[in-house]
Amino acid sequence: MRRYSRLAAALELGVVAVLLFLTTASGARPAGSGRVLWTSAERATLRSLSLASLAPLPSDPSNRFADDDAAATLGGRLFFDTRLSSNGKVSCGTCHLPELGFQDGVPLGVGVGTAGRRTMPIAGTAYSPWQFWDGRADSQWSQALGPLESPVEHGGDRVQYAHRIAGDYKREYESVFGKFPDLRGLPAQAGPVEDAVRRASWDRIAPSRREEITRVYANIGKAIAAFERRVRFTPSRFDRYVEAVLARRPETPADSFSADEEAGLRLFIGKASCTNCHNGALLTDDHFHNTGVPAAKGTTPLDSGRTVGARQVARAEFNCTSRYSDAGPADCAELKYAVLEGPELVRAFKTPSLRNAATRAPFMHAGQIATLPAVLSHYNRAPAAPAGTSELKPLRLSERELRQLEAFLKTLVSPLDVPSRDSLP
Ligand code: HEC
Ligand code: HEC
Repeated sequence: MRRYSRLAAALELGVVAVLLFLTTASGARPAGSGRVLWTSAERATLRSLSLASLAPLPSDPSNRFADDDAAATLGGRLFFDTRLSSNGKVSCGTCHLPELGFQDGVPLGVGVGTAGRRTMPIAGTAYSPWQFWDGRADSQWSQALGPLESPVEHGGDRVQYAHRIAGDYKREYESVFGKFPDLRGLPAQAGPVEDAVRRASWDRIAPSRREEITRVYANIGKAIAAFERRVRFTPSRFDRYVEAVLARRPETPADSFSADEEAGLRLFIGKASCTNCHNGALLTDDHFHNTGVPAAKGTTPLDSGRTVGARQVARAEFNCTSRYSDAGPADCAELKYAVLEGPELVRAFKTPSLRNAATRAPFMHAGQIATLPAVLSHYNRAPAAPAGTSELKPLRLSERELRQLEAFLKTLVSPLDVPSRDSLP
């Protein structure tokens, strides 16, 4: 009995030693130590991903009203005004719901009709030089003017919107942008839109008046952008964890990570190479990549992503170098030096921020992937792209490692700081 228990004790010790070795080698916390030690290089990476290292909001030289409070208040009202649509039912907020992180939870955005891609969130996009999955707009204000005249989103046109401003927002508009033009004699609806009747009416308007209307239209975008800039991320559990790690402070329950979350973070910045693209405080490089995402069902022709977006932004009516931009000759470097062609643009889409991504199923540019485990399985397999070449390599992670990555992604969730809708007049 005595000999047996000594043997058992020795065996037990051996098992514990092997387990200890395995857990340390795989990067998880050694039993009892309470926390993982990050190397100084790893701590620098963690710091770079934390919200505390987010740069101040960049100025937008193409929109001189971007930081104007009155413009933001007007922009917030316009963002939620369903009368800015052909059927009186669609506002930006119809697809970008504040209570869903400015998203809608469906594969394809639904307005007057159904969009060809998935709705993108708003927070943090003021940092991005490119808007839309294909970057066909180079500012928030020019982005906003896309859905307003899209037949499947708001379905309206710029003359209709100018009448709406004249009727309901003239005082606020003039206090920000100056004198509102005289609309007498203009039709109720007209604009350079798909609809042939409204397009023909637009062509009959004198060029100088068309320019006045278009300037009002651009200002609508500039006011909306001023509002959108104020939608911000707040610190998540991940940010509090990094703060604790950097301060070398024994973690308090509020900023501690489970062993799985820690291991997931280690994979994210290490073996899984996620930070090749999801880097910086917003966990995006704001660039375009082909990651072999399968085609959405029923999309013909195949969405070619940045290939078309690059061509469109270069000649966009409202880009940074356009007559409606407030930028000077020294500005617009992003647009001037953008890569506008090349095989790497084929089916390349904008890297989304991973902040709050865990709460935003379905995933990818057309909601092709329904769940977070399925996203991780996609990265693990790295399938060939339906067109162009995927930049991914198979990761060969175990089921356990995939679950750890998922646990980590969930620590990036936090409430948004939104200028309150109730405070809008
Ligand atoms: C019908 C639903 C719908 C409506 C209405 C809508 N959007 Fe969107 N939004 C989308 C979709 C879908 C995308 C991605 C489209 C694409 O890439 O082609 C998007 C993309 C965006 C982006 C790009 C974000 C990024 O990271 O690049 C911004 C900003 C945005 N919308 C703001 C607005 C504003 C402002 C309005 C109102 C003027 C608006 N949206 C109206 C569905 C909608
Ligand atoms: C080569 C660049 C690149 C790498 C590496 C990469 N991603 Fe992505 N990620 C993207 C792009 C681009 C998209 C959007 C693709 C699309 O919609 O077609 C995306 C989308 C996602 C999404 C969906 C977000 C949403 O809102 O739809 C998640 C989640 C995600 N990535 C997590 C990860 C994780 C975890 C890793 C590491 C295993 C990783 N990514 C590695 C570029 C990358």
